[in-house]
Formats: sequence, C-alpha cells, structure tokens
Amino acid sequence: MARCLVTRALPGPALDRLRAAHDVELWPEREGPPPGELRRLIADAEGLLSMLTDRIDAALLDVAPHLRAIANYAVGYDNIDVAAATARGIPVGNTPDVLTEATADLAFALLLAAARGLFGAAAAVRAGEWTTWEPAAYLGREVHGATLGIIGRGRIGRAVARRAHGFGMTVLFAGRDGDIPLLEVLHRSDFVSIHCPLTPETRHLIDGRALAAMRRTAILVNTARGPMVDQAALGRALADGTIAGAALDVTDPEPLPADDPLLTAPNLIVVPHIGSATHATRERMAELAVDNLLAGLAGAPMPHPVTPP
Ligand code: DGY
Repeated sequence: MARCLVTRALPGPALDRLRAAHDVELWPEREGPPPGELRRLIADAEGLLSMLTDRIDAALLDVAPHLRAIANYAVGYDNIDVAAATARGIPVGNTPDVLTEATADLAFALLLAAARGLFGAAAAVRAGEWTTWEPAAYLGREVHGATLGIIGRGRIGRAVARRAHGFGMTVLFAGRDGDIPLLEVLHRSDFVSIHCPLTPETRHLIDGRALAAMRRTAILVNTARGPMVDQAALGRALADGTIAGAALDVTDPEPLPADDPLLTAPNLIVVPHIGSATHATRERMAELAVDNLLAGLAGAPMPHPVTPP
C-alpha cells in the first residue's frame, strides 16, 4: 500500500478504487492546500493526485523524496514541471480526450453568448428594463456564416471546428504544421477561439499587436489558459474598441479578484474556469487520473502519460 495525497475531493466513485488499493490522504477543504501545507503533506507521499491549481515545481519535488507518480486532474499540465519530475524518475499523467467535447461546448456557448449579448440582455430583464419590443435594441452579431479563427489544431480546437461547421461558419486554423499564420487568421476572423497549451512560447500569444490585428467587430474567446492573453492589453483593446468583445473561461490570475481592472472592461464575459465542468466529464477525468496513479504506483506505464517538452 502506498501513501497517496489527493489535493481535492473528486466527483464520482473513482477515488474508491484508489482507496481500495492504497492509503489515501484527501485534502478536505474547498480550496486546495496552500503551498506551505502542500510541502508538508507531500513529504511522505508516494502518489500525488493534483489539481491544475497545485504548483508542482522542482522545489516541491525536492521535498518529496518518496514520490513515485503524479496524476494531474486536467488535460493541461502547465502547473507541473514535467522535466523536473522526469529527471527524478517520476511519471506524470493527465486526463485527455474525456473533456474535449464539454470544453468545446463551453467555447461555443461563450461565443454565442458574446455574439448575442445574452448576459446583458438577461440582466436587463431582471432589472425591469424590458418595457417593450424594440427594433434596434440588444442587437448582436451573426454567428451563422461568420469566420471563426481557431488557434491550435488539437483535439479541442477540432471539436470547436465541428460545431462551427454546423453553424455554417468558415473555419481558419492558426498554429504549427503549415496552418495559416496567426496574424492572418486574426485579421480574417469574426471570432477567435484559443485552443493550445500554455508554454513559454504561447504565453501572451494574444498581446497588443495580435489584438490590433483583429477586426474591430471581432470577439475573442479563451477556454485554454489565461496567461495566453495579455490581459492588460485586452482591457485596453475592449475599452478603446480595438475589438468588439471577449469571453473568457480562464484568466491570469485565477481566480480573478472581483476588483481586477479587467472586470471594468465593456463587452466582457468571464466565467470561472468551467470548460470541463459537467458531471459526466469531471467523473471521467477522475477515473483517468486514478488509472494513471494506480499504473504509476504499480511501476506500469500510465495510460495517459505526458512527456517533457
Ligand atoms: C484542463 O483539463 O486542463 C482544464 O483546464 C480543466 O478541466
């Protein structure tokens, strides 16, 4: 039996399988362990089931001499220094595929909500401002027939493209491997949706220059990772009309403080990192994370390993 640290309660029955095989310490709070607490808890752990909010860097791994496997409860793993883990012989796993459709659904929901001003219109009804039907009120932008620029041709990007085709949209992919150059995609798109991993190369991929390349009528959607957008530049672009709107599931930092200046920007939707937040998806993620941890602790290849860049 190995000692496993699980940094948050997970939906569904997956942790029962881990408990049946190992000694599980579950962090009981709604918020994850603060860094000091994580350092204390990891000291004698052999297995770690981590969240994207846990920073697993070389300094933490240095105080985890018994650690033999890390299973991240997310497809993204920018919270983990995978190279440092690999150098210590610790395999790392993630939860790909199972959250692709849910995340693509949310990206498209945000795109539609921003295009049609759904949140503002719904708030107006609650505020008693719906006093008549008006020909020129609550006018939004057409989604059908518009052009969608997708940054990243991975699983989630392709799933968003499938939805876009159902709406009769033209899809342009920006990314590596012979896709259209980013600035050209930004220039040609009515909507831009980000679907690539956060790496040193993609940090602030959408900066002031990129925003300036977008159409003044364009809407930016980000369900990937917050630091891919230069938020100060985004705030300015929304305020001065460089772009028409933005819808973010991810921010930098997370959570975004309620008094963050970005939240004063017009035509902005922010939701709290809920791309994969459906009952079924979060339960499937838990199953994958437990599969990874059980395999890693058994010395077997993880079913969903990640490799250092
Ligand atoms: C991920 O898995 O990386 C998402 O951001 C959360 O599910």
